[in-house]
Amino acid sequence: MENTFVTESIKYIGVDDHEIDLFESQYIVPNGVSYNSYLITDEKTAIMDSVDKRKGKEWLAALEDALGGREPDYLVISHMEPDHGSSLADVAAKYPNMKLVGNAKTFAMADQFFGGAIKSERVIVKEGDTLSLGGHTLHFTMAPMVHWPEVMMSYEESEGVLFSADAFGKFGALDTEEDWACEARRYYFNIVGKYGVQVQSVLKKAAALDIKTICPLHGPILNENLEYYLNLYNIWSSYGVEADGVFIAYASIHGNTAKAAVELAQILKEKGAAKVAVSDLAREDMAECIEDAFKYGRIILAASSYDAGVFTPMHDFLSHLAMKNWQNRKVGIIENGSWGPTAARTMKAMLEGMKNITVCDTAVTIKSAMKQSDRAALQTLADEILA
Ligand code: FEO
Repeated sequence: MENTFVTESIKYIGVDDHEIDLFESQYIVPNGVSYNSYLITDEKTAIMDSVDKRKGKEWLAALEDALGGREPDYLVISHMEPDHGSSLADVAAKYPNMKLVGNAKTFAMADQFFGGAIKSERVIVKEGDTLSLGGHTLHFTMAPMVHWPEVMMSYEESEGVLFSADAFGKFGALDTEEDWACEARRYYFNIVGKYGVQVQSVLKKAAALDIKTICPLHGPILNENLEYYLNLYNIWSSYGVEADGVFIAYASIHGNTAKAAVELAQILKEKGAAKVAVSDLAREDMAECIEDAFKYGRIILAASSYDAGVFTPMHDFLSHLAMKNWQNRKVGIIENGSWGPTAARTMKAMLEGMKNITVCDTAVTIKSAMKQSDRAALQTLADEILA
């Protein structure tokens, strides 16, 4: 992303990371991830966030190049999570006259991470404060829990640029061509999904601004068709249904539960389901399965019984969903058990703690392998989930 200008005075100086094995030590990123950073050049210069120390040297070189011999006046810190903040001590040491701009929580975290090693002068801002750089003025707005408590966004009024922190970010390095929504959705629900209420509150503040460009901390700069992205964020953060269809998530030990899941998918298609997505929880990316559980409004959980409970991939899946505040869905259940099936009651108990989950009355119980009578039950379940 060399020489990428957001506007004439705002330059992208972020870095791609294709070497990372797991983002946040849990998410696969087949196309890497970008750590975005920007430089605003005016009478004063402001760096908008640093990057993960993994790519710190590369970033410092890009910054020096973009500065063209000038000294940075400010570094605005949107978010202290180490994928953005772990280079702070290095950049502060390189530019000792540069002031750091953040809120009170930002600096409390900076001290926690760096133990007071950063000696830079601090500019502490709060909701509604502004910072003039000359022709450009940054307005600060707090965005707690999107996705940490110290997060703040900056809106540059003269060019309508929103520096949105993690919001509107996605997995995937910037040198990768791929669909925005797929990897942005996987990123959103797995990383920020729990905090829908807080995202809704930020979207309300954003609605009052004349935004022409969104500069997130990961993924591409968004500068056209912004309604598309804002609408998806509104659906996602209000736990709405994005796509009509049914998502079947199964956890099968020896393949018989999988056969029931695939057979139900066929029945649903025959009955006119707009879309049927099927995932093997034991083998597919859990983050992708979580994304699909939020994408669709109708979900089938099919699982083997295991140790007087439910097979572990389904247990993991439902635990993740509970943690991410999954809600407002209709659920159908299929269980399998060769003796004393326990999967259905375990899954129902896990769903009980979640908000506004409607479980279908039809529960299908398979004893070891599918039989003709099970097919009739699948037909009934299909009718109920589609109703
Ligand atoms: Fe991209 Fe919450 O850090």
